[in-house]
Amino acid sequence: MSECHGKRALVTGGAGLIGSHVADLLVREGWRVRVLDNLEPQTHRRGRPTWINERVEFIEGDLRDRETIAAALDKIDVIFHQAAYGGYMPEIVKYVHVNSLGTAQMLEVIREKKLSIQKIIVASSQAVYSEGAGICPKHNVVFPPVRPVEQLRRGDWQVHCPICGAITKSAPTPENAPVGGETVYGLTKVDQEKLVLLWGKQVGLPTVALRYSCTYGPRQSIFNPYTGVIAIFCTRLLNNLPPVLYEDGEQTRDFSFVEDIARANLLAAETDELDGLPANVGSGHGTPIREVAEQLSTALKIDIAPEINGEFRPGEMRHLSSDTTRIRAAGYDPHVDLAEGIARYLDWVRAQSDVRDYFSEAAEILRSKGIVHKVQNVSP
Ligand SMILES: NC(=O)c1ccc[n+]([C@@H]2O[C@H](COP(=O)([O-])OP(=O)(O)OC[C@H]3O[C@@H](n4cnc5c(N)ncnc54)[C@H](O)[C@@H]3O)[C@@H](O)[C@H]2O)c1
Ligand SMILES: [Zn+2]
Repeated sequence: MSECHGKRALVTGGAGLIGSHVADLLVREGWRVRVLDNLEPQTHRRGRPTWINERVEFIEGDLRDRETIAAALDKIDVIFHQAAYGGYMPEIVKYVHVNSLGTAQMLEVIREKKLSIQKIIVASSQAVYSEGAGICPKHNVVFPPVRPVEQLRRGDWQVHCPICGAITKSAPTPENAPVGGETVYGLTKVDQEKLVLLWGKQVGLPTVALRYSCTYGPRQSIFNPYTGVIAIFCTRLLNNLPPVLYEDGEQTRDFSFVEDIARANLLAAETDELDGLPANVGSGHGTPIREVAEQLSTALKIDIAPEINGEFRPGEMRHLSSDTTRIRAAGYDPHVDLAEGIARYLDWVRAQSDVRDYFSEAAEILRSKGIVHKVQNVSP
């Protein structure tokens, strides 16, 4: 730790869920921290959040603005690039603009200004995978492609073996699984990751892409109905509304508590074992979404059963659990399991005033823009 003492970090997106916890951890570890965040209104409906660490230098500004990012990068040693436009939002151009162009321009500024950055850690995502790895009874480990929309329209949610069509069983997905991006968001996370890793290799700059699993915890926006299943279900229940499950609710996700993700960032900065690589960060096991809804309703003591309307989101993977062998070998050891993490998130949510439901309105938009579809009634 002492070798990093006094290092200077830029945390882009440092007002958000993950960035703010990264900033706090770095401050505790003796780093000098600057945050660049434009306080995206979708995420920060009530303006600058109270949790921005007072020992951080805060720049309110947009990553896409060349002068702003140049100023933010001045005299920085390590970049923790967390800023992104995320989730299942209906925009197309904005994802590419913020995530892809924003990252590309940041790299260009570093090159043009000959900045002596020592390392870049970029927030990637499990969304770079098409579908989680599967085990076929005949073919063992397979990497199925995204499920075709026609299949989903029939209400067939299973993941089939790409070779023989048998139903596969979910298995932890390693970093060498095919990377594609099946949503606009996923595609731009691939861009961010590849831009940083490729460019780092070209110029000899150590870089790490952390492929986070579903991350949750205190400070996850209670205003954004497009991302963060735990926050969305929780705000629904607190408004006496049922959480809405897509498909049949048996799809699984790997959940990470935000403080563990912050620790992974610090680790990536300190070790050289991950340099030049993508690394999954997750718990290593999948939890069905239906179970998450149940755990939340039990913990909140709000007994409302989730709703299933035969809706689905094309491009969404059915199962994902992260194979975390690589990052664990480098020293990663998550501390907080889902039950404890949910309890800590709920403590925080209870302390927030005026928790509203924004999902109902968003659901309409998602339907009308074709992001959420419905199964078609087929005769048996
Ligand atoms: N939360 C998850 O489940 C998850 C999973 C995988 C990957 N990620 C990635 O982790 C990173 C952080 O996500 P998060 O969950 O903390 O989201 P978040 O929305 O809480 O934080 C992102 C922050 O970036 C800021 N931002 C957005 N556009 C910006 C711009 N143009 N200029 C400056 N700042 C901008 C926002 O205001 C926000 O504070 C993102 O790159 C996201 O893609 C998150
Ligand atoms: Zn098979």
